[in-house]
Amino acid sequence: MAEILTGQVLQFTADPFLAGPDAARVETDGALLIEGGVIRAVGPRAQILAEHPGVPVTSYGNHLISAGFVDSHVHYPQTAIIASWGKRLIDWLNDYTFPEETRFADQAYADEIANRYLDLVLARGTTTVCSYATIHPESVDAIFSAAQKRGMRIAAGKTCMDVNAPDGLRDTAQSAHDDSAKLLNKWHQLDRLSYVITPRFAPTSTPEQLEALGSLWAANPSCLMQTHLSEQTDEIEWVKTLYPEARDYLDIYERFGLVGPGALFGHSIWLEEREKAKLLDMDCSLIHCPTSNTFIGSGLFDLSGLKAAGHRVGLATDIGGGSNFSMLRTMASAYEVAQLRRHSIHPAQLWWLATQGSARAMRMDDRIGNIAPGMEADLVVIDLASTPAIAQATARAETIWQSVFPTQIMGDDRAVVATYVNGARLV
Ligand code: GUN
Ligand code: ZN
Repeated sequence: MAEILTGQVLQFTADPFLAGPDAARVETDGALLIEGGVIRAVGPRAQILAEHPGVPVTSYGNHLISAGFVDSHVHYPQTAIIASWGKRLIDWLNDYTFPEETRFADQAYADEIANRYLDLVLARGTTTVCSYATIHPESVDAIFSAAQKRGMRIAAGKTCMDVNAPDGLRDTAQSAHDDSAKLLNKWHQLDRLSYVITPRFAPTSTPEQLEALGSLWAANPSCLMQTHLSEQTDEIEWVKTLYPEARDYLDIYERFGLVGPGALFGHSIWLEEREKAKLLDMDCSLIHCPTSNTFIGSGLFDLSGLKAAGHRVGLATDIGGGSNFSMLRTMASAYEVAQLRRHSIHPAQLWWLATQGSARAMRMDDRIGNIAPGMEADLVVIDLASTPAIAQATARAETIWQSVFPTQIMGDDRAVVATYVNGARLV
């Protein structure tokens, strides 16, 4: 069934980091036609209404209609341990994360958290995520089933770890390969679901496991591959002792066939020049997780430098190292981190990162992350005056971006008026 939505419609014609803020176009009195889960037409409201008489209209006044947010690095099993106090990466993993992830051997618990997590993010306008599960196949079934029920396009995979993890949270090289292969065959490209080959990070995989996952990826090149890279300096020192022969952190992944197009490297903060050159050459994606990088005390991602050099960059919450489920709060954090590096990121660039940038990092930008005819109808409708504090900050706005920026900095789930997934309003 067709439906017309009216409001201020935000579209990107190019990457605003390359083409400037004008690459974002806002049709202030706009409309879009959705039908069969797909955007069929976009334009001025009067024109869309005239061209499609009799189609039901949902009017969103001067709310902003955007592509749904895309969160390109999360750990849904860490939903319940968000905001855990006082640790840096390795202790945070050992003291909070690993005990919680152990619980996902229980299918009922995995289902409960997967459903809770997707409801939390949909309420915040996020329509696609790229998630780690735990080592348990049950945890992968849980998130894919929950997403399938909601019609969501998500990517996820079984986290593989066969060393430096506690009892009950280790697989083996062979079982990681075989379980991943089984899950991939069960879920990959079923409905809107994509399987992601997921070695957690170099310290928790033996060379044998990385090798097994490298060959699994070679055999299934339509899958994405996700892992962590150069997040914290203590971590990098540890990695050097585990793999003393490696030239640098990336070299470990490189040797096992885990560096190539379709690879997503979470954090990527403390990169060497050789690593940057290789990542660019191989067209890998670097995922910026600003609330996590400040919360766990990891460092300041070089967003401007890496974008200027031409890297594929996505934006992500990194739940539960990240401190907020909202991509609005994540945009604010990205802005603040860049300020500390003496770069002011334009609001259009922040919004692009949270939509098309992350979709591009996941190589799904031909289907999601933008509003245009033919794109899938995953949308968020944003109230740009959702609280008194935001309303008064926008009262004197003269440009669209002056109207949007206070919501990017102060907005939360109260700003989300509606979330559409595959053309259906879920929130
Ligand atoms: N490095 C390895 N595992 C993790 C994780 O779960 N969260 C974060 N932030 N970093 C990691
Ligand atoms: Zn992570």
